[in-house]
Amino acid sequence: MPPPFANVPRLAASTASFANIDQVWDVYREELHAVEQHIARSIDSRVPVINHAAGHLLQSGGKRLRPLLLLLSARLCKNQGSLECEIVLASAVEFIHTAALLHDDVLDEAALRRGHETARLHWGTKARILVGDYLYTRAIDQVIRLGNSEIETTLADACRKMVEGEMLQFSLHHNVNITENDCLTIIDNKTASLMSAACALGAILSGTAPSNTAALTRFGRYLGIAFQTADDALDYAAHQEKLGKTIGKDLYEGKITLPLLHLLSTCDPAERSIVERVIEHNDDSAQDLGVIIRLMERYGSVSYALDRSRHFVSLAMEELHAFSPSPHRDALEIVADYVVSRDH
Ligand code: FPP
Ligand code: MG
Repeated sequence: MPPPFANVPRLAASTASFANIDQVWDVYREELHAVEQHIARSIDSRVPVINHAAGHLLQSGGKRLRPLLLLLSARLCKNQGSLECEIVLASAVEFIHTAALLHDDVLDEAALRRGHETARLHWGTKARILVGDYLYTRAIDQVIRLGNSEIETTLADACRKMVEGEMLQFSLHHNVNITENDCLTIIDNKTASLMSAACALGAILSGTAPSNTAALTRFGRYLGIAFQTADDALDYAAHQEKLGKTIGKDLYEGKITLPLLHLLSTCDPAERSIVERVIEHNDDSAQDLGVIIRLMERYGSVSYALDRSRHFVSLAMEELHAFSPSPHRDALEIVADYVVSRDH
């Protein structure tokens, strides 16, 4: 039987130029399909309920942004090594991302993810934690088989930072003295570290010059900060059905993200007392959320967060100047632009 990766074409985008993210997904769809197949094959526990829950979660409409970043970074660095390694690593990164979201929805007591009731409600908190652990161990298992210590260290560092970011965020819940630097440190760790690792891994696999790996590491990091900053803006501004998550949940969770911090630091003292009361009260009321959203509209808080997101996208784009023009560089620019222009 031929190996499962044998028929997957490499360097799909030889002459492509892209008008939007859908065209990028389209050009790389065969490689991404190979990632999907590898993910499905890797969910092979002897405990059927794990396969059921993990399969359901992995099939629930994730965008596969991190696998795409890994594949594009490997292409940009002209990786001539094994395509199988790319597919395995892209799957491992998606496993870690899904494991983190499973645990995050438990920590955040979230009810909706990707438009569906979260697995916390569907299977219960304990199953959610354990299935997250299972996916995480599947990722480790696959990565150590590659026997590359730089890859192992890169992923281990990213996982440590994700935990640190979540813990720092948790320790600053409801704290109205949080600074913008605190907010950025949180998102740099909890979100940007894995996107950065995904880009770095594509470069490491290709054996490119360390300066190229460093540029892609920074590209992924800036992109991740931009992604989460846009996510934090969408939490106050998106249509719930499109977003697939509950609007305003950061407020209810006591998470002070950039839009709320901007409001706290620009509104007048009387309004600040109202905002502080809502943050401390934390009672899940639509009325409170309405008050906050109206104040944010008046002070431009969501626009401010989106401007910050655009700033980090432009920093990410600058890192791509280290590479000569190519369809893969164009694709990464389109992905960077999508991160801040998306509405879900
Ligand atoms: C989403 O943030 C959360 C993350 C991006 C990271 C979660 C990380 C952990 C729970 C640590 C566990 C780590 C490993 C390696 C298993 P959010 O709540 O702001 O976004 P959301 O709106 O999508 O929920
Ligand atoms: Mg969450």
